Amino acid sequence: MPELLSIQSARGTYGVELGGFDGWRERIASKHVLAIADARVLELHPRVVAGLKDVPILKVEAVEPNKTLAFAVDTILPFILDHGATRASTVVAIGGGIVQDLVGFACSILFRGLPWAFYPTTLLAQADSCIGSKTSLNHLKYKNLLGTFFPPKQLVVDAAFLPTLTDLDYHSGVGEIIKIHLLESEQATRELAADLDAVWSRTPGVVERYITRSLTYKKRYIERDEYDEGPRLVLNYGHCVGHALEAATDYGIPHGIAVMYGIAVANRMSAKRGLLPEPVARAMNQLVEPRLPLVPIAAKVSTDALLAAMRKDKKNIDGKLVVIGTEGYGAMKRVIDVAPDVIRAAWTDMIEELTR
Ligand SMILES: NC(=O)c1ccc[n+]([C@@H]2O[C@H](COP(=O)([O-])OP(=O)(O)OC[C@H]3O[C@@H](n4cnc5c(N)ncnc54)[C@H](O)[C@@H]3O)[C@@H](O)[C@H]2O)c1
Repeated sequence: MPELLSIQSARGTYGVELGGFDGWRERIASKHVLAIADARVLELHPRVVAGLKDVPILKVEAVEPNKTLAFAVDTILPFILDHGATRASTVVAIGGGIVQDLVGFACSILFRGLPWAFYPTTLLAQADSCIGSKTSLNHLKYKNLLGTFFPPKQLVVDAAFLPTLTDLDYHSGVGEIIKIHLLESEQATRELAADLDAVWSRTPGVVERYITRSLTYKKRYIERDEYDEGPRLVLNYGHCVGHALEAATDYGIPHGIAVMYGIAVANRMSAKRGLLPEPVARAMNQLVEPRLPLVPIAAKVSTDALLAAMRKDKKNIDGKLVVIGTEGYGAMKRVIDVAPDVIRAAWTDMIEELTR
């Protein structure tokens, strides 16, 4: 099977392969294997159930309220331990970012590290979250508050999982693809813009190319700064407002769609602060704003609720709001001490324009 990428990590190098789920058993050296899978994926993809014959499977309902320490400790760890796992075992995770975060976290704390393999089944997980080592759990109303860095030993991207995603979940993945292309360069963004209708409407064969590009662009950041101490922080472009929007709507907006809103607000904020020429902000926003599908839900969010959620962001410094802003394509930077009124104005202008 062709190896797409090889990622250097403090935990060792791991490969990303492009291929099918079938044949997963030959890729894993451990004799003892367990599987933890998204219940919906098992329902929609009988080939996975057939392929896991004789392997104990824990089915997980992939909803944000399950992405907790309690679920990891009280459900995932007992499943692994009750099936006799040792450090020589491997846990196979099959699902999107929620299953990835839960399994990655549980495996990182058990035996100070239990090997796991990951088969991402959402576009967001295939094009973005599957690499980078992060595991995150929600805690005390805070999104992704607890976490570790613990990459899988193997990673296989199988695009045959994607056709069963709902449009909303599929478009959520496109949001992260747009983000990484804006971070990369004007040229990369232009190429994506030319193909964006085809990607958005799931034209066969096109999305695979953008999964590969997105992972290739992300690889540079995570290898330079696996622990998120400097260069990698700009990957949070769109996430400061995006995470707040997810929290303020009780996760009613999927992650990558919230990131699209966050990008639009970050660009507008950057223009208001004089970092970014207005026409460039408008051009960059052309990738996201015409495609924002959830205006009715987002329009109901008050700027007070949004700012209250933003104040809880772990990346703020000394009580000051930190937002990843931009000076243009490929020129994202941390903006420290963003005035709440600038966020209010950027958000209100955007909603007014979108609902006009
Ligand atoms: N660890 C990281 O680096 C990282 C990065 C980005 C996002 N995340 C986290 O990932 C989560 C979002 O993950 P996601 O967008 O991948 O999706 P998800 O895991 O939240 O799943 C979304 C929905 O899609 C369903 N689903 C999954 N695969 C499917 C398939 N092939 N066909 C049909 N339905 C399918 C799920 O059952 C669920 O209903 C958030 O919690 C976010 O915080 C983590």
